[in-house]
Amino acid sequence: MSRPKNDTFLRALLREPVDYTPIWLMRQAGRYLPEYCETRRRAGSFLKLCKTPSLACEVTMQPLARYDLDAAILFSDILTVPDAMGLGLYFADGEGPKFERPLRQEWEIRDLVAPDPNVHLRYVMDAVVEIRRALANSVPLIGFSGSPFTLACYMVEGGGSDDFRTVKTMLYDRPDLLHRILEVTARAVADYLNAQIESGVQAVMIFDTWGGALSHAAYREFSLTYMQRVVDELKKINDGERVPSVIFTKGGGQWLEAIAGIGADAIGLDWTTDVSDARKRVGDRVALQGNMDPMALFASPDAVANEARRIIDGYGPGTGHVFNLGHGISQFTPPDNVSTLVETVHQYSRRL
Ligand code: CP3
Repeated sequence: MSRPKNDTFLRALLREPVDYTPIWLMRQAGRYLPEYCETRRRAGSFLKLCKTPSLACEVTMQPLARYDLDAAILFSDILTVPDAMGLGLYFADGEGPKFERPLRQEWEIRDLVAPDPNVHLRYVMDAVVEIRRALANSVPLIGFSGSPFTLACYMVEGGGSDDFRTVKTMLYDRPDLLHRILEVTARAVADYLNAQIESGVQAVMIFDTWGGALSHAAYREFSLTYMQRVVDELKKINDGERVPSVIFTKGGGQWLEAIAGIGADAIGLDWTTDVSDARKRVGDRVALQGNMDPMALFASPDAVANEARRIIDGYGPGTGHVFNLGHGISQFTPPDNVSTLVETVHQYSRRL
């Protein structure tokens, strides 16, 4: 199997020479696109969209039809893993994700087992195969998972949280129980990402959305350690090609040196970190992905282009940068500003 026709994204992650800075956007398939809203309406619900491979494939391809993006990302959700562990994922209207059976009792935690991804997450693997076929080797397909800690937050809280009171109470009172959840979840995440790789994804990203909510000491013990375990177990080569990995801890800017040391190929940056400073700190150990403030996409096209150029200049010359937002694109983003962003990143970086 050869690399995709446009392999700029993979080259940048592996710090091989590139002609321009590649770009993709977190949550690039989503509610800011009217065609996504239309498919979701036809599907009936977000979960139905995730669990129907032909529809997941359709929405994965939508942003690529509109914009000259350098990668596709599997349409799914990080919470499919705890759902496969039997917690019962559902989306209450306007309230975000919830679990019918959050992990609270010691016996529930002792009984937790890692699912077989080829059985319980078969629909994801089927979507990967279908998307690869639709992409026809044009651009690479990114697979993903939540980090063990971020998944544990939702599993223990039973949904989103402002303060993570329940999971942090467990962390301080019964660290043994949280470690038990994280061990099983790290196993599940490693198996899940390897199954995605075997099904055809060409890079993987770990979303540690809530690692940045931890104390300095707790971040290493409860988040970074388990991401390292996952990275250690990842299949690094598939079909004769390197499968690069990206770690994204939102709010993790103060820990870049530590994150750079766990063996991943790249670090995702949120918008609070300066990209030029980040590059100096990690040196040539990892590539960097990011990091425009998603809210910048609400400004005028000129302001969007200026902000994109500022970030490209900040990274400076040479390979190792993948342009992205510092977090997921907002559902209220004007779609035309995304065209401006993609064109600016391509044109401006080519001249450097
Ligand atoms: O990047 C992509 O385009 C791939 C698709 C993707 C989704 N979720 C689709 C989605 C990815 C990579 C995710 C990851 C995800 N899911 C994370 C980590 C990244 C991050 O944003 O921090 C988290 C924390 C979740 C959990 C989750 N799923 C939440 C909190 C929500 C509600 C958010 C909201 O804006 O309402 C979801 C739902 C979700 N996942 C949507 C999409 C497109 C919106 C669902 C809809 O259509 O109603």
